[in-house]
Amino acid sequence: VSQPLCFLCNILFYFSGGEVRCDCTEEGIQIKGGHYTFTKQLKKGSTLIYQCPDGYYPYPHLSRLCQPNGSWKPPPRRPTQKCRLVECPDPNVLQNGNILPSLERYYVHNETTCECYSGYTRKGSSNRVCLPNGKWSGSTPICSRDSAENNCADPGIPAGASRTGNIFGIGNTVTYSCIDNLLLVGSEERVCQESGQWTGIEPACYYRHTYDTSLEVSESFGSAIRDSLTVLKPSDETQLGRKIRIAKSGILNIYIGVDISESIDQEDVDKAIDAITVLISKIASFSVTPNYEIAFFSSEVFEVVKILDFLNEGGKPKNMIEELRKFKVDDKNTGTDLNLLFTTFEERMAVIKEQVGEKNFEEHRHVLIVFTDGAFNMGGSPDRTVQKIKNMVYLDPTGQKKNESRDEYLDIYIFAIGTDILDTELMSLTAGNDGRHYFRMKDITNLNETFDEIIDEEQVKDLCGLHKEYETVDKGIRKMYPWWAFITIVQRNCIGSLVTSRFVLTAAHCFRFGDEAEHVKVEIDDGGRKKTVKLFRLHPNYNITLKKKKGVDEFYDYDVALIQLEKDVKISNIARPICIPCTSATSNALQLVGDSTCKQQVELCCALSLLFTTNLKGTLTFCSSISPMQRGECIRHALDAKGITTTDVREVVTDNFICTGGQTPFRDDVACRGDSGGAVFKDYERRTIQVALVSWGNEDLCASGGSAESRANSRDFHINLFKVIPFLKSILGKVDQTEYPPLHFLPN
Ligand SMILES: *[C@@H]1O[C@H](CO)[C@@H](O)[C@H](O)[C@H]1NC(C)=O
Ligand SMILES: *[C@@H]1O[C@H](CO)[C@@H](O)[C@H](O)[C@H]1NC(C)=O
Ligand SMILES: *[C@@H]1O[C@H](CO)[C@@H](O)[C@H](O)[C@H]1NC(C)=O
Ligand SMILES: *[C@@H]1O[C@H](CO)[C@@H](O)[C@H](O)[C@H]1NC(C)=O
Ligand SMILES: *[C@@H]1O[C@H](CO)[C@@H](O)[C@H](O)[C@H]1NC(C)=O
Repeated sequence: VSQPLCFLCNILFYFSGGEVRCDCTEEGIQIKGGHYTFTKQLKKGSTLIYQCPDGYYPYPHLSRLCQPNGSWKPPPRRPTQKCRLVECPDPNVLQNGNILPSLERYYVHNETTCECYSGYTRKGSSNRVCLPNGKWSGSTPICSRDSAENNCADPGIPAGASRTGNIFGIGNTVTYSCIDNLLLVGSEERVCQESGQWTGIEPACYYRHTYDTSLEVSESFGSAIRDSLTVLKPSDETQLGRKIRIAKSGILNIYIGVDISESIDQEDVDKAIDAITVLISKIASFSVTPNYEIAFFSSEVFEVVKILDFLNEGGKPKNMIEELRKFKVDDKNTGTDLNLLFTTFEERMAVIKEQVGEKNFEEHRHVLIVFTDGAFNMGGSPDRTVQKIKNMVYLDPTGQKKNESRDEYLDIYIFAIGTDILDTELMSLTAGNDGRHYFRMKDITNLNETFDEIIDEEQVKDLCGLHKEYETVDKGIRKMYPWWAFITIVQRNCIGSLVTSRFVLTAAHCFRFGDEAEHVKVEIDDGGRKKTVKLFRLHPNYNITLKKKKGVDEFYDYDVALIQLEKDVKISNIARPICIPCTSATSNALQLVGDSTCKQQVELCCALSLLFTTNLKGTLTFCSSISPMQRGECIRHALDAKGITTTDVREVVTDNFICTGGQTPFRDDVACRGDSGGAVFKDYERRTIQVALVSWGNEDLCASGGSAESRANSRDFHINLFKVIPFLKSILGKVDQTEYPPLHFLPN
């Protein structure tokens, strides 16, 4: 396309009152050392995005917008676009020490060393490297000397910053600014508290090309969101400076907004949806059931998930994800009205307050998460709306005297995405006093995985049944079945399940008369050695010979045993207890709120007839498709087993068994000899609930080991855990002992 054509086009454009569109051209937009992409080819409203190899950034512009008259904004001019080496902020701001080498500018891969003057000791990193994201590796080096007047430690000066304030007593303030117009991300002002801690978080100076890596995001956003989600006890008075967390009774409202205006790439939107989907299903596996508002916005706001529906009927995560996936960005979205998004959130909050009443509203905690580049061009600045939200949550209608203890109840996180980010405007919209709330991301390709890792932390210890839904490179299937235990008793093998950090549940028939605790070894495969066993207990009613005279050679009723380990298993992603029936931990996993009962759990667990188990090798087998209605037909086959001469099936299979196998409605798998004691379970969101354990079968179809498909007449019988609660509770829930913390069972 040549210049005269475009000139003609512009004239046409002028005379037609803007109806004739003119495409932009590729003239003069080339970049040296890199390449570019368009969001809508050369059409009006398309954004040109420059890309450079790792360690470089596009200069002088990161992107260009195609305007209706066919010209680029900013227009291509000299100097032409090129890829420049990434620079890190100046580290020579250190007090009481030197940074070596001293350079004019520090580029990617440049290394520095810190040396403190004599009499001063160093904290932070001695050696640092300038990283491709424009940040220094490690932490800010600080050279300091102990002083009695100082209540807080020297907070240091981050690279590229300057600080005022050199006294660190209680109530003293330090303020930071960035040199050379760099952007300050973090706390501009910090106050030394009585606890010896500084308020806020360490600031950092960002160039326009500086961004946060997904690891940084998962660490800081992860720990912040985890704090909102996990239930921690209020800290006691001695721990000043520690946070008092949301009480379990508190309600969490999560509002998510995704920018779909033309300044944001469709690909970014899809990735944001991916990430939100992961976040929602992750949150669902915590013991909280938040209410959600999810909206896309451009010049309009599209509420895809409405928070008010939650108040009325309670939304379910599955529907939300479907709704999200269904949403398609429409080409005609022009303009960005960020204020309208916040106004929508504010209005919904006001309705919630009205519906639940002022008193209850005080217990509501609000988390706002917004993905945008902040390039709003209509509706004005959202500042005042955000202030209104703060006033409402801080219970402070005038915005005059802020009650600090209310800060806990509002977090506004901004994920800045896109190429041209309006940082200053966006940063002023964040809220919350703990951890970072502003993230500047180059691209959000791995944000879904970042969110996925959030829950992976060791801190989330008391969540039974939590697992990954896919194999991982490092630990294979171990993260999918972190409760899986392999038991060796002399020469015999069984499998079991970790039910607390101290106990493994298995079948009673794994043990023979004369077995001692020292003959039993348990492998959890958590990287540690085999676990030694302190003692084991069989169900008191278990008696394999009880019905020998009645034509049942081996009678497996109450075939359940608990193994107590010498030491606690260290809980992690690869070693974590499974949920067992009638405990409050399981009610949490099933997202039952208020005073739940064992009966509710039975209903939830039995509503779905599909059950699974893992075999000897720890791989999943499909265990049952049999509904309670088909039970009669299923258990009938017990009489086919060897050593059974009675004709009364009830003598063999009591109500304590669950029956699986056969070929209808689906061909089930059957358990094999070494599978005894294994968990029969059901997944609920990301949590696993054990409902039974593998006891015996009428045929041995897997002489060669491994799993086998059921034949028409083959059946397995599993001990239904709901029927042996008194036994489980007598040991796991035992309160009058000090060896291990008892598991909390539901009173009824
Ligand atoms: C195209 O339109 C923009 C504003 O819409 C204006 O600033 C620019 O000068 C125009 N360019 C040409 C070549 O007309
Ligand atoms: C710093 O990096 C630049 C660019 O790669 C390089 O030219 C220079 O030699 C480096 N300086 C030091 C001291 O390593
Ligand atoms: C601040 O809020 C807390 C709890 O919301 C309340 O107990 C306290 O009295 C409030 N303080 C002031 C000064 O209003
Ligand atoms: C994240 O998204 C990518 C591609 O969009 C996908 O391949 C990957 O499986 C996702 N990961 C998770 C944990 O959902
Ligand atoms: C098991 O039952 C048989 C038959 O009733 C009885 O003789 C035996 O003592 C029982 N064993 C135990 C350990 O209770």
